[in-house]
Amino acid sequence: MTYDFDKIILRENTSCVKYDLRKEFFGTASVVPLWVADMDFETPDFIRDAVIKRASHPVYGYTFRSDSFQRSIINWMGKRHNWEIKKEWVAFSPGVVPALNMAVMAFTSPGDKVIVQPPVYFPFFTAVKNHGRQLVYNQLTEKNGRYEMDFDDLEQKIDEKTKLLLLCHPHNPVGRLWSRTELETLVEICTRKNILIVSDEIHSDLMLKGNVHVPLASLSQQAADISLTCIAPSKTFNLAGLATSALIIPNEAHRKVYEKILDDLHVGMGNLFGITSLEAAYDGGEEWLGQLLAYLDQNLELLNNFIFSRIPGIKVVPAEATYLIWLDFRGLGLKGKELKEFVIQKAGIGLNDGPSFGPGGDGFQRINIALPRKILTEALEKLERAVKEL
Ligand SMILES: Cc1ncc(COP(=O)(O)O)c(C=O)c1O
Repeated sequence: MTYDFDKIILRENTSCVKYDLRKEFFGTASVVPLWVADMDFETPDFIRDAVIKRASHPVYGYTFRSDSFQRSIINWMGKRHNWEIKKEWVAFSPGVVPALNMAVMAFTSPGDKVIVQPPVYFPFFTAVKNHGRQLVYNQLTEKNGRYEMDFDDLEQKIDEKTKLLLLCHPHNPVGRLWSRTELETLVEICTRKNILIVSDEIHSDLMLKGNVHVPLASLSQQAADISLTCIAPSKTFNLAGLATSALIIPNEAHRKVYEKILDDLHVGMGNLFGITSLEAAYDGGEEWLGQLLAYLDQNLELLNNFIFSRIPGIKVVPAEATYLIWLDFRGLGLKGKELKEFVIQKAGIGLNDGPSFGPGGDGFQRINIALPRKILTEALEKLERAVKEL
C-alpha cells in the first residue's frame, strides 16, 4: 500500500498544540507552524484501526499491560535496532519527559549535579531544575556545522556530586546520531566516574539517508549496566497525544529504583489506547515507516537545496536523524530577540527559537520538516522573501 504524505490535514480546532496555541506562543495565529515535534501526517491507518476497534468495546475501565506489550517492544528493538532485550528489562512511562523527570528524582538527591549537553531539547533543563538538582552544561562543540561531544570539558565538570547524565541520542536539535566510538568514550568516562546515563532515544527510528542507530545500552555489558534507555512510538508514528513510552533498564537494581518511583507517583497504569497503539505500531509499522523515511529524506533534500540556492545567508546543519533540523542564521547577522521577531513577524513562520535550547542556541532556529512538501515549500518561500527585504 502506498501512503499519501502529501495529503493536507486540517488540524485547527482539535486542541492541537502546534496549531491552536500559536497565538499564545508566537503572539499571532497566522504563522506557518513548523515548531512542536509532531508530524502533519495522518497517524497510520493500522494504528487508528486498532484504537477504533478497542474503542468500540463499551467499557474503558482499569487496564493492565499484558505480555504482548513487552513482546511488541522486544520484537521492534530486535528487528529495527539489532538489540536483543529481555522481557523483564521493559518498564513503562507515561511519556519520555516524565521518564527523564522520574529518573532524576529516583537516582539523584536535591543538590546533586546532572549533566546535559546543550544546545538540547529544553525539557532536559526543567527535568533537573524542577527537582532542586544542579544543572551542569557540557556544551557540544561545533566545527564547520558538525557538532561533537567535548569529552575534556565533561571530565572537568564531573565531581563527587555529579550523579547522572541525560543523553539525547539521536540529538534534538543538532541532528547528530552519536557514533559507536563517541558512545564508547562516553560510557568509559561515566563508568569510571560512577555516573548513570539516561539515554533518550525517542528519535531512534527516524533515521535519515539510511543511517543506522546504535542503542547506547547495546554497546557492551558495561553500557547496559549504567544506562536507562527511553523509547517510544510517539515520534515515529505520530502518537504523541497518547502519552505512552517505555524505559529499557537491564540493570535489575536500577529497575527496582525506577519502578518504585513509578509506583509511588501512581502513574504506572498508562492509558489503554496508548497501549493498543504502541502494540499496533511496533507489530505492523515497518512498511509505513519505510515510506515515511523516504518522504522525510526528500523533504530534507528540498530544504537543503532551497536554502543553499535561494537563501545563502542561512545554513542547514547536516542532519543524520530526526525531522527536526537546526538552522544557522548567524550569516544574516541576526541574533537573540531580533532573530526571533524577524522569523515570526517578517517571515511569518513559527520555528523553535535557538536560545530556548540553552547555551549554543543563539543565532539558530529549529524547523520541523515533517509536513506536506507543498506547505514546506510555501514556508521557505516566505522566509526567502523576508530575507530579501533585510
Ligand atoms: C528528545 C525528546 N525527548 C522527548 C520528547 C517528548 O517525549 P514525550 O512526549 O514522550 O514526553 C521529545 C519531543 O519533542 C524529544 O524531542
